[in-house]
Amino acid sequence: MPPAVESKQTVAGVRWEIAGVKIKDYPRLAWRGLMVDVSRHFFPKEVIMAYIDQMAKYKLNTFHWHLTDNQGWRVEIKSLPKLTQVGAWRVPRTGYWKGFKAPEPGEPATDGGFYSQEDIKEIIRYAEERFVTIVPEVNVPGHSLALIASYPNLSCTQTPQQVLAGDPWNPQRTNVLCIGNDSTFTELEKVFSELAQLFPGEYLHMGGDEVTRSYWDKCAKCQQRIKTEGLKNSEELQTYFLKRLARIIQSKGKKPMGWYEKLEGGLAPNMAVMSWKDMKGGIAASQQGHKVVMTPAFNTYLDFYQGDPYLENGPFTVTRLNATYNWNPVPLEANAANILGGQGSLWTEQVAHERKLQSMTWPRALSLAEVFWTPQPKRQWENFIPRLEAHLPRLDSAQVNYATHFYEPIVSGVKDSSGALQVVLSSEIKDIEMYYTFDDSNPDKFYPKYQGQPLDIPKGAHHIRVVSYRHGKRVGREINLPLSEVEKRVRK
Ligand code: ACM
Ligand code: ZN
Repeated sequence: MPPAVESKQTVAGVRWEIAGVKIKDYPRLAWRGLMVDVSRHFFPKEVIMAYIDQMAKYKLNTFHWHLTDNQGWRVEIKSLPKLTQVGAWRVPRTGYWKGFKAPEPGEPATDGGFYSQEDIKEIIRYAEERFVTIVPEVNVPGHSLALIASYPNLSCTQTPQQVLAGDPWNPQRTNVLCIGNDSTFTELEKVFSELAQLFPGEYLHMGGDEVTRSYWDKCAKCQQRIKTEGLKNSEELQTYFLKRLARIIQSKGKKPMGWYEKLEGGLAPNMAVMSWKDMKGGIAASQQGHKVVMTPAFNTYLDFYQGDPYLENGPFTVTRLNATYNWNPVPLEANAANILGGQGSLWTEQVAHERKLQSMTWPRALSLAEVFWTPQPKRQWENFIPRLEAHLPRLDSAQVNYATHFYEPIVSGVKDSSGALQVVLSSEIKDIEMYYTFDDSNPDKFYPKYQGQPLDIPKGAHHIRVVSYRHGKRVGREINLPLSEVEKRVRK
């Protein structure tokens, strides 16, 4: 169908023809996922359904829904109503994450939202119609400030807490559940029981990453648990927690999954893992017989920028389109039979609007769709680009925002033999022409063209601006950098 088929308006004058062909095709991997974090920013159910719709067009079949974190609890649990009465709300802050001001005394918590169980059923039905499975995540025992703000008795300190707005971390905060307190398990059983009844998929994700174990070291109840269970230390206490929660999840007829980090105390048996820091954890877990989903940050974290970091406002790093494309989710060292697949993961600290949710996802999710579908030897970066470009008009027609940063100049610096700074330009893809200025005017194709040699800097210049053309057409944004920034990029 032509791109106009994606239009939200009625379209006239198009012949709706498809060629009669026979297709034999099948995916490389079973788990072809995207994750969206709805805790750092809440997105209404219409946004989630539109996101799933767009995934399904590219046969991405698993939606990992990160429903809880320090910044908000987003799933209605009928037996624990405070989770959404209290835990879904924080004080409003806008802009640079981590630079926010802490809540003022008495300031109302008005920012947030949650999905009712009716909303969730509607989203599940919508996803099922599109052959997308939803994997819900409730992240415990760390990342639990919203839960603890709702039920402070579940932390080691039992002190009142507020849902995090994004202000710098304050050591008085307790975002880790107390493992010595049996109520922790009683309440989590209620949560996972309701999740198991709601969600038809086989996996429930229990989080498990970035646990600050020092709270446990100072807690009499946690220390008592270590003693009575014959554990060596807080690392083993974390594994005790994982095993006990995994058993609860299995008792509800579901399979447990958790984030994988270096877990000194070991994983729970039968627990599937999601490897996020790198591939090593996932490779090791696959060899030990655990099912694995690969989502290594430097290839698949969709919160990382796609273009020049200097043009972004935020605390993250870069994962360009070619880094997602040129990634093999099933490395030779892994036990391939245990690699379920992979996913792109979108954390939303700096994503406050649906348009940004889209532009952080696309086009990187197009490259991931191909990574998960196509056999490794058949994938080639340069011949992916025309296929990608064929889909951009479809995204335009569907009014889905996408980044064009893969067209943009990449600016770095070198030193000449006399130690003077020179500017080097490159690009992710072939057939890009770049034009530059040092005089603070906006370059176009009538300005000097980059010829592949390092550029000497004219006396007095303090910025470089560069633009890209492809097949004679302006593409991507203008990159505008102070030369002091270029200087920092010189490899020592
Ligand atoms: C994670 O990024 N902490 C899973
Ligand atoms: Zn404790």
